[in-house]
Amino acid sequence: MERRPLVAGNWKMYKTAGEGAILVQNLEERVSAYWAEVEVAVCPPFTALKSVSTVIELDRLEMSLGAQNVYWEDEGAFTGEVSPRMLVDLRCDYVIVGHSERREYFGETDETVNKKVKAIFAAGMVPIVCVGESLATREAEETETFVREQVRGALQGIDSDHAQRLVIAYEPLWAIGTGRTPTPEGANDVCRSIRATVGAMFGPPSAIALRVLYGGSVKPENARTFFAEPDIDGALVGGAALDAESFAEIVAAAL
Ligand code: PGA
Repeated sequence: MERRPLVAGNWKMYKTAGEGAILVQNLEERVSAYWAEVEVAVCPPFTALKSVSTVIELDRLEMSLGAQNVYWEDEGAFTGEVSPRMLVDLRCDYVIVGHSERREYFGETDETVNKKVKAIFAAGMVPIVCVGESLATREAEETETFVREQVRGALQGIDSDHAQRLVIAYEPLWAIGTGRTPTPEGANDVCRSIRATVGAMFGPPSAIALRVLYGGSVKPENARTFFAEPDIDGALVGGAALDAESFAEIVAAAL
């Protein structure tokens, strides 16, 4: 089965509501020719979701929308949190979960990632589950074992129908925002092992349908080399997603 590539922009804590709307409009001109072949998603901060969602709706863009985090309850006394229902109301398709910055700075664990993954699926959205090893883990040659455990932890108790819609982003911590990357073959080895782990948990159809993205210093100059690998189905892009020109070049590399 041919998997449709997904190129998703993780805007992190950049762009106001107004700046986000402008970025998406600039992006539209540059990527609309590729929509049939590549799925393009943008993941703005919560405060820009509404304005970006409105541009997508009014301009009838074939662009997917994602949030960068969510809480697992539908509503309640959870000051500062945002629920899956609220994101669905803004027409979000995806939610990034377990990004290494959230694990490092905000106490996200495999257990909370798992609760979020379940809540996202229950609300009808799709999680983009981030996994990846530190430099120390890599140097100890424990990358695949470590990533496998993260995948297992995140997906505990998910049903196989949901597993078939899943997106996993492999992002080595030492490659995020650093300009350093693994070799495409090295990244593909980890992505293949992620696919095998999902296959062992949910069966071959889930492994075949699973989209595994590579993330970490993806730029217009290197994107094509990652996309040429058989187990890499797209990218989760940070810094280069903040500029319409660079992001569009990365999208074009996925054709
Ligand atoms: P980067 O970030 O592309 O700036 O390295 C990727 C990410 O954190 O998702």
